[in-house]
Amino acid sequence: MAHTEPRPIIRPEPLAMYELVFPSDLNPHGSMFGGRVLAMMDKCAGLCVGRWCNRIPVTASIDAIQFVTPIRQGQMIEARAQIVHVGRSSCMARVSVYADDMLSADRFFCCEGYFTMVGIDAHGRPVVLPQIPVETDEEKRQWEIAAKIKENLLARRAQAEPRK
Ligand SMILES: CC(C)(COP(=O)(O)OP(=O)(O)OC[C@H]1O[C@@H](n2cnc3c(N)ncnc32)[C@H](O)[C@@H]1OP(=O)(O)O)[C@@H](O)C(=O)NCCC(=O)NCCS
Repeated sequence: MAHTEPRPIIRPEPLAMYELVFPSDLNPHGSMFGGRVLAMMDKCAGLCVGRWCNRIPVTASIDAIQFVTPIRQGQMIEARAQIVHVGRSSCMARVSVYADDMLSADRFFCCEGYFTMVGIDAHGRPVVLPQIPVETDEEKRQWEIAAKIKENLLARRAQAEPRK
């Protein structure tokens, strides 16, 4: 992976996706199936990263997922992704999910997680990504949180099954 040229600094935009929860989205408890929520979050992270770096990234890791509040049929869910950390070819998007009960206008925080996405070329090889500005206290705080998550996941990766 060539890394000689200076990397552009590109401010990432948050990206939001919306869905209405149908009966087919539910688990046997009557709340939204976690795998469906994750699929939406993964897509949201991928679109956010892709729009920022002008590539179609792949997901390398999904970490620190917390399901906080069950999501119910008929609610509108919003997934919101923001890039909070960038390495060389990988970056991490934090995705938060909210549910809106349209009848009562109540809004609930439901879930969040950190998605590591890798920019790849046409041969599937990692490529160097741009950088993001880290200026505000909140950007610095989010960067530190993501850096700790990355440290843990790379330690786990080092202990994982050897690749064939
Ligand atoms: C992700 C992938 C491209 C990485 O390729 P690789 O040959 O392991 O590349 P490297 O070891 O050079 O790692 C490249 C970057 O990815 C990161 N990375 C690789 N595997 C990772 C993992 N399991 N978790 C988190 N980050 C990972 C590395 O830390 C490195 O980041 P950096 O460049 O910012 O320092 C490759 O493992 C892959 O294609 N995985 C399958 C992806 C997939 O099918 N996703 C689901 C559908 S989108």
